Amino acid sequence: MRSDPTAIVTGGAGGIGQAICVELARRGASIVVADLDETEMQETKDRVEAIGQRCLVVETNVASAQSVAETVERTLDEFDTIDYLINNAGIAGPTAPCEEVTTQEWEQTLAVNLNGPFQMCREILPHMKQNSFGRIVNIASVTGKRPLPNRTPYATSKMGLIGLTRTLAAEVGEANINVNAICPGSVDGPRIKRVFERHAAQTGQSYEDVRGESEREAARGELVRREDVADLVGFLCSEDSERITGQDINVSAGKVMY
Ligand SMILES: NC(=O)c1ccc[n+]([C@@H]2O[C@H](COP(=O)([O-])OP(=O)(O)OC[C@H]3O[C@@H](n4cnc5c(N)ncnc54)[C@H](O)[C@@H]3O)[C@@H](O)[C@H]2O)c1
Repeated sequence: MRSDPTAIVTGGAGGIGQAICVELARRGASIVVADLDETEMQETKDRVEAIGQRCLVVETNVASAQSVAETVERTLDEFDTIDYLINNAGIAGPTAPCEEVTTQEWEQTLAVNLNGPFQMCREILPHMKQNSFGRIVNIASVTGKRPLPNRTPYATSKMGLIGLTRTLAAEVGEANINVNAICPGSVDGPRIKRVFERHAAQTGQSYEDVRGESEREAARGELVRREDVADLVGFLCSEDSERITGQDINVSAGKVMY
């Protein structure tokens, strides 16, 4: 890692984002947590500070260009550089056949999952270019690579995020800015529980059946842990991955192999 690096992690209040904050802090980074609610971010702040790293929490709505701009300004007031940007904030969007998805649901899903990372990148890239260094990691999904029926807004947003990753990587590589995407499979935790419950309610299956189906789909017959995703983020921010950019890397226990 660089000396005294700073990382901004969107959606870092809990779930995968919190594990990413902890892993990057463990590797020596100061952390800026950008999530919707300040009180919700306190646990992450405590965990980062317990490691001995600085942690700034900034209420941020990544869907709002103004909020994103304010967060980046706040970060630069507090820290000299922004070395790592982890676009992790995301919402599941509706579970419904396409013809039942409202325009508002569609726009909201795209606003958080796709406009959010775009707006974060647009705001931070000038600083990374000035420093001739940057590592951007977009948390996409295996659903960015294959269809997921009844989740059209989510799948579209994650496929778009892989498009943003590849195109931006090609655009900024010579400035020593790497842009990669991680594609998690089903990650154990409260969010995937909610997703499985919704799917179960829609298809008339039990929660256990839906979960079991997801586990069996993976080569290893299990779900992914949030720390598995965080470990890969750590690697993609490290010197060991210097010449890896524009990639979409699965962390799916072997659910997807392309
Ligand atoms: N959990 C999984 O199985 C799984 C699988 C593949 C991909 N992912 C992706 O990983 C990322 C993290 O997922 P998670 O499972 O930790 O979810 P989560 O719901 O636990 O965490 C998401 C975080 O994003 C925040 N957030 C939501 N909207 C926001 C906004 N407008 N601005 C700022 N923050 C906002 C939430 O407050 C929350 O803290 C998401 O992008 C998700 O799509 C998750």
